[in-house]
Amino acid sequence: MRRLILLLPLILFINCKQQPAIPTGVVAEKAMVVSAREEASQLAVDIMKKGGNAFDAMVATELSLVVAYPFAGSVGGGGFMVYRKNDGEVGGIDYREKAPLAAHKDMYLDSLGNVIPGLSTSGGTAVGVPGTVAGVLEVHRKFGKLPLKEIIQPIIALANKGVVVTEKQANRLERTRERFIEANGDSTKFAGPFVTGDTIKYPAYANTLQKIMEEGRDGFYKGEVAQKLAAFVQENGGLITIEDLEKYEAVWREPVVFDYKDIKVISMSPPSSGGVTINQMFKMMEPYNVSKFGHNSTKTIQLFTEASRRAYADRNFYLGDPDFVDIPYDMLLDDEYLQERMANFSFDKATLSSDVSHGEVEIIESAQTTHYSIVDSEGNAISATSTLNGGYGSKLYCAELGFFLNNEMDDFSSKPGVPNMFGLIGAEANSIAPEKRMLSSMTPTIVEKDGKLFMVVGTPGGSTIITAVAQTILNVYEFNLSMQEAVNAPRFHHQWLPDMVIFEPEGFSEELKADLKSKGYIINEERTPIIGKVDAIRVLQNGKLEGGADKRGDDTAVGY
Ligand code: GLY
Repeated sequence: MRRLILLLPLILFINCKQQPAIPTGVVAEKAMVVSAREEASQLAVDIMKKGGNAFDAMVATELSLVVAYPFAGSVGGGGFMVYRKNDGEVGGIDYREKAPLAAHKDMYLDSLGNVIPGLSTSGGTAVGVPGTVAGVLEVHRKFGKLPLKEIIQPIIALANKGVVVTEKQANRLERTRERFIEANGDSTKFAGPFVTGDTIKYPAYANTLQKIMEEGRDGFYKGEVAQKLAAFVQENGGLITIEDLEKYEAVWREPVVFDYKDIKVISMSPPSSGGVTINQMFKMMEPYNVSKFGHNSTKTIQLFTEASRRAYADRNFYLGDPDFVDIPYDMLLDDEYLQERMANFSFDKATLSSDVSHGEVEIIESAQTTHYSIVDSEGNAISATSTLNGGYGSKLYCAELGFFLNNEMDDFSSKPGVPNMFGLIGAEANSIAPEKRMLSSMTPTIVEKDGKLFMVVGTPGGSTIITAVAQTILNVYEFNLSMQEAVNAPRFHHQWLPDMVIFEPEGFSEELKADLKSKGYIINEERTPIIGKVDAIRVLQNGKLEGGADKRGDDTAVGY
């Protein structure tokens, strides 16, 4: 008896460790949507309440974010979605933008071969052929339950009624005001100025949606909308033609699927780099007892940083559009190769990025993307990340059609092997070619545990997407945080080059940073105030769903 009493604290400790964290986010019985704005989450949940499934809810979320979150809502852009159906079937769809037919490798270079500043980031020259409408309609065709009309009509109503400007949105609009005027003239509706509480209506987008509702993909990629879109891009110096629009197709792709300890991770394959890179990172970390190191401890940050350093070096060199480049998956995802990559890692001292091979390529990607996670009452799960690239994309707002156009062409390497306008160097695998898709970091991800759905996760954040998604998964799986705690937790990032660990300014102690510095890590807290804006769902043991909506934005979980 005395022995039992002595052992009781240990037994309790072990039991506590085995109990999943108590939820601290919104909990729902059956279904949930977590997205960048409450309006989009609510509208998609209403679709599921009317009998729609997660795929219908995806169409609703994606098309309503265009008005609820025009900063990144992507009818003028593209994205990726990974799904897991309730029977365990997994898949992914690529609705990434493409380079126009008239695009060519040197299109952003002057006669001396130098990159012309701004051409790939602003105005019509920056715009890739949008993929979002093709993507969501293909998803609906294959898996949707409700008629398109039932899904689109409430979005038309929302566009006509308008969406209230939040404080964060008002600040973003103000910061971008001059750029809107530069791109569209001072009569643009986005010349504002806007204050918190204003309502912005989108009647032109409502008309575009009406066309899509009536004619399906032809309502966007052919006829009046396509003519207006191509003419608008060309008036602004861009290359997109009606033929480009007519030819655009979304592509079903096998996701990247791998085991990490006793979870299975399902993530997006190229032309997104997310799945391959997160696979490499997790496999490099797998031999270590990460949970024992502690959440955001020196050892965890070191291990994660060193795995990221090596994985991003490969990412930048080898990855591109798989329809155009041969990606050496067998090598990149081989266990022996990955353990070999970590052979020179030591907890005593940082590895130098210059000592990690393929040290010639650096990436820079805009952070202004958006992510949403969905689980329906049948247990189907959707993880989708979509983007205009920069905030409000190219800043070009097509007033006749009611949406912003992407500047995704900047995700290509404008000049492989030579520094671009940011002093950065791109890779041949990601060079520009007609109809090629530019490399992305978007990492929509689903996690299974014990053969069951466990988590749906993703985030915006450009190159920081991959590390933010990885940390969120580890926060739940290794460190037993609730979904909301895992999303709230402070984040850090390393992408090989520049050779620095980027920290969110809040949440890491001076002692920890001093410890890392003493081991040779360069710390940067100025580069970005936030890393990612994760929207995620965890399935609890009792089958209920816990949302993790990122407090860094206006993100909201809605469920029932
Ligand atoms: N434009 C951001 C990304 O595709 O990763």
